[in-house]
Amino acid sequence: MKKGFLFAGLFLAAGVVLFAAERKRTDQAVGHAAAEKTAIRVSGEVCEECPRAALTFDDGPSKKYTPILLDGLKERGVKASFFLLGRNIEGNEDLVKRMHEEGHLIGNHTYNHVRITKVSKKEAKEEIERTGNKIYETIGVYPIYLRPPFGEVREDLELPVELFYVSWNIDTLDWKTRNMDSILQIVKKQIKDGSIILMHDEYETSVEAALRIVDDLTKEGYRFVTVDELLLP
Ligand code: NI
Repeated sequence: MKKGFLFAGLFLAAGVVLFAAERKRTDQAVGHAAAEKTAIRVSGEVCEECPRAALTFDDGPSKKYTPILLDGLKERGVKASFFLLGRNIEGNEDLVKRMHEEGHLIGNHTYNHVRITKVSKKEAKEEIERTGNKIYETIGVYPIYLRPPFGEVREDLELPVELFYVSWNIDTLDWKTRNMDSILQIVKKQIKDGSIILMHDEYETSVEAALRIVDDLTKEGYRFVTVDELLLP
């Protein structure tokens, strides 16, 4: 996202917004993400009772910084979620394959970072479908999670594949500040069980901050998971 506004109307208590037709599933997902858990510090094993959060990265991949992020996440055994721009997949197919092979979630962020509510229905559909197809051609899996640029949701698109809209509830403003301390401070102040953290892997400061967030908050009991783990029961 390149704009600093919040689309507050879209936030539910858990900060997770799904606009899929399957309403029952949505209710369960939100309820699940909202459940409070007690922080229990563990080491070397998966902690079922630990609070969970998802690191999400938009607008990538970045040839320069995404590999550094992937190295750091791999070293720490952490999976993240990447909402890719179709135009940035061009020439970075190996990087996208690597993301997928290393267990990260890959989602759709349109082809050219358009405001899907401000273009024609036809163009909005094309932006989403072209990116979905590009991801499918690259990794062999069609992405079912969509984070529309600027958080602008549109429900009249009649897409051939049902997509889940994914929001966020911690906006690090990383693109704006490009400052690791500021990003860390925002996350540490706001994080709770179910948090979905918005960042951008095209900035060095964001990549450094993301890895620090993992290091510091893992010590406080947090587990970092892909967004689907927070959304699905
Ligand atoms: Ni964006």
